[in-house]
Amino acid sequence: MHGIWGSRWTFILAATGSAVGLGNIWKFPYITGENGGGAFVLMYLVCILIAGVPVMMAEVLLGRKGRMSPIHTMQALARENNAPRLFSGIGWMGAVSGFFILSFYSVIAGWTLAYVGKLASGEFAGATGEVAKASFGGLLSDPWMLLGLHTFFMLMTGFVIARGVKHGLEDSVRLLMPMLFLMLILLLGYSITTPGFVQGWDFLFTFDFSKLTTHSVVVALGHAFFTLSLGMGAIMAYGAYMPAQASLGKTILAVAFLDTLVALVAGLIIFPIVFSHGLEPASGPGLIFQTLPIAFGALPGGTLIGTVFFVLVVIAAWSSAISIAEPAVAWAVENGFSRAKATFGVCFLAWLLGIGSVLSFNDWGDEQFFVTETIATTVADASTGEEIQSSESVFHLYANTTELNAEPLADGAERSVKGKTFFDLLDFITANVMMPLGGVFIAIFVGWFMSRESVAAEARVKSPLLFNIWRFMVRYISPVAIFIIFVEGLS
Ligand code: PHE
Repeated sequence: MHGIWGSRWTFILAATGSAVGLGNIWKFPYITGENGGGAFVLMYLVCILIAGVPVMMAEVLLGRKGRMSPIHTMQALARENNAPRLFSGIGWMGAVSGFFILSFYSVIAGWTLAYVGKLASGEFAGATGEVAKASFGGLLSDPWMLLGLHTFFMLMTGFVIARGVKHGLEDSVRLLMPMLFLMLILLLGYSITTPGFVQGWDFLFTFDFSKLTTHSVVVALGHAFFTLSLGMGAIMAYGAYMPAQASLGKTILAVAFLDTLVALVAGLIIFPIVFSHGLEPASGPGLIFQTLPIAFGALPGGTLIGTVFFVLVVIAAWSSAISIAEPAVAWAVENGFSRAKATFGVCFLAWLLGIGSVLSFNDWGDEQFFVTETIATTVADASTGEEIQSSESVFHLYANTTELNAEPLADGAERSVKGKTFFDLLDFITANVMMPLGGVFIAIFVGWFMSRESVAAEARVKSPLLFNIWRFMVRYISPVAIFIIFVEGLS
């Protein structure tokens, strides 16, 4: 009903277009910075291997078997295989995460649009770290500007989706993905010449496990899902358009490999610049916007190269955004809406929700969720004069952090407040909760509720050994690993 990709290659291109996006270039470097580097990177790679790749195969397989939107596919397959009703909800949960993700994804993609303009104007010629930082701060403090950019990006996304995935997507991805790779290699060439290269390399690839917290492991797992577009139906929807005879094994490995490569190269570009210019690896979502302009400012022809680079990032984000919306749009189309109406509805709702993320970086920055307030006190013991330290934490589901910080404290007490903005909250519950949860259910469904024969017939993996390894992973390793990380992380 929705059309079939021209060939296995088109699927690889489209799935790579979905996988490679802001997750690789924007998110991976900054969460690596926040989670201490090497050990986190290693955890991320392990999660890709033991959870990402097996679940990706399972998810594409389900899509191709069902040949409908994830919501209808899961309803049909759950019924057919006598699985509990719970499993038919995988598609629904995915559609909801799709709205959440698209809403903030479009806001960040808006930043990359702004940077196309900033670079083209030559703003960063010879820029220092301070200049780059101030420029980014200026952008974030302007909600109307952010809203305009968010709106523009959502219109771009809606435009392609409305035209249908085939025409809208195939052409752009075929040309632009290779260009993005070329640009990344060029930038890598630059970063190798910076004095911080060795330090950047060590930061990414020296595994210091003392820096790893259970929270970082949850983030690594969540990112493996986010970056491969898993657990929410995007890849399932694309699988539904895959030619029947193509084998899943190599196809999926190719996509996962390309995606991982782009992330690692992005890291190798960013961190040397961070260390060469005395910037902070843990500077959060602004990391690439504060580092890359410095590189472009220093390169001959940097204005042009920088502009082209951000254009490519916009396109990478675009081809991902399309796939985020596809499950919900396909579902609406199956329910009788025209493709145009379905697109409008989905994009409008996500746009509306996105306003919350726009405001998270300025007007609502203080309004936070899941706030932990820790008060550390140091008192001198009355008799011995010895200093005694103690600390106490209070949890608030929601609080205004500026007001909280302004509340008077006893002498010798210090308060630290940590919470999540609206944007942080959506990012956290989608990547770190909903997507891995979707992944567990997908693995369990394919591993335990579908018969070995029907799975083998659909997967078309030629080597029986590889098939058996994969099936074993989907049955045991992936669900157990995801489950353990979950329980550890939430406790
Ligand atoms: N994988 C995309 C990225 O890394 C994001 C994405 C998430 C796409 C979920 C589709 C579904 O940018």
